[in-house]
Amino acid sequence: MTASPHKLVSRQSGALKGILKVPGDKSISHRAIMLGGIAEGTTVVRGLLEGEDVLRTVEALRAIGAEIFKDDHGTWHIKGNGLEGLRRPALTLDMGNSGTAARLLIGLLSGRPFTSSFTGDESLRKRPMERIITPLMQSGAQFASENGRLPLKVTGLSNPRAIKYRLPMPSAQVKSAILLAGLSCDGVTTVIESIPTRDHSENMLRAFGVNIKIEKQADGATAISVKGKARLNGQMIMVPADPSSAAFPLVAALLRPGSHVMLPSVGLNPRRTGLLETLLEMGARISINNAREEGGESVGDLIAEGSELKGVTVPPERAPSMIDEYPILAMAAACAQGTTRMLGLNELRVKESDRLALVAEGLKRCDVRVEIEGDDLIVHGNGKPPKGGTIVPTAMDHRIAMSFLVLGCAAADLIMIDDGSFISTSFPGFVEMINGVGARIETA
Ligand code: S3P
Repeated sequence: MTASPHKLVSRQSGALKGILKVPGDKSISHRAIMLGGIAEGTTVVRGLLEGEDVLRTVEALRAIGAEIFKDDHGTWHIKGNGLEGLRRPALTLDMGNSGTAARLLIGLLSGRPFTSSFTGDESLRKRPMERIITPLMQSGAQFASENGRLPLKVTGLSNPRAIKYRLPMPSAQVKSAILLAGLSCDGVTTVIESIPTRDHSENMLRAFGVNIKIEKQADGATAISVKGKARLNGQMIMVPADPSSAAFPLVAALLRPGSHVMLPSVGLNPRRTGLLETLLEMGARISINNAREEGGESVGDLIAEGSELKGVTVPPERAPSMIDEYPILAMAAACAQGTTRMLGLNELRVKESDRLALVAEGLKRCDVRVEIEGDDLIVHGNGKPPKGGTIVPTAMDHRIAMSFLVLGCAAADLIMIDDGSFISTSFPGFVEMINGVGARIETA
């Protein structure tokens, strides 16, 4: 095999032991920069994720008028001039690999009376944007795009209309895009979601002083309403460690007998804990210590120990609370005893890659029995790690890359991934950190 700086190889490790400090939550970090950038006064953010995705958001907010800097202690300061202070970006906003950055910022700028242009990398340019274009056009914004994908241009009205919109798919990104657009409208913008998705936008908008109401409907759905022409006030934000990133060392520890890994201050927002729930059902030895509130979010220290896992069925309604965690769950399922059925995963097809297809393809190469039936992923484990001894394609997808590196910690023979460069979009330092507790990942 030819050496390449991006190929990584993961070899079977011994027990993983130690403390691993997972970087800040990606969803919260994007929102902290965006809301800080449209607030009046200064927002101070501790624990910001300095991954490439969030740095794209930082650059974009700078381009539309916010002043943002990091001090010598690693704390970020964002000086906004209010919503009215946003200005037309002189250049195209390149959101790199980040769907969250793109969709939320398009939402925000769709309410401003100027034209903004957006693009992204090859992965992001394949992802559907019509899911935000459809509702945002109802408020009067105009879009120019080839086929409902990036690159696109959006032009807002000077007086956008407040809308009421029922989400056709469970998506926090679509919900957030509409709520952020609603900040510029006269009147009340309402988003109705029948399946709860992560609520970081709602929590943070409230903390910044926006009038936001959350009401249960007779049919069990939730209506989230924001009052427009909002004035936001700068805040202090503590970003918890990202549970979606913590998932990788957590599962690695479960898969290696004798492991004992501590992950401090991990976000435990109930809309993000589906993976923990599932792993506990599979028999994982995970404990949550020192559960507490920090900066308005639930956090706790997680301890994971080597475990014998068994297959389970994951119901479709749990998907939004663990949507980013199916790739790593599939690795745990591949080592578990029995069959794991993960139901209702259609949204996985439109992530950074088609995660349903790529997880199945990678596992097959590792000699795992796996099937896709409709939108369900079925993984058959036999209670021991799979064979491995292969190279896995990752298609510019950080979570696919980290998942197979974790499987490589357990597999009998090494697992190589074709490109580890996208890991830094969400988890800079992943390889060094997990090697620090005993993994054996290196450049191929
Ligand atoms: C996110 C929402 C999810 C998730 C993504 C981050 C967010 O996407 O997959 O990584 O920060 O709102 P969808 O809302 O499209 O499901």
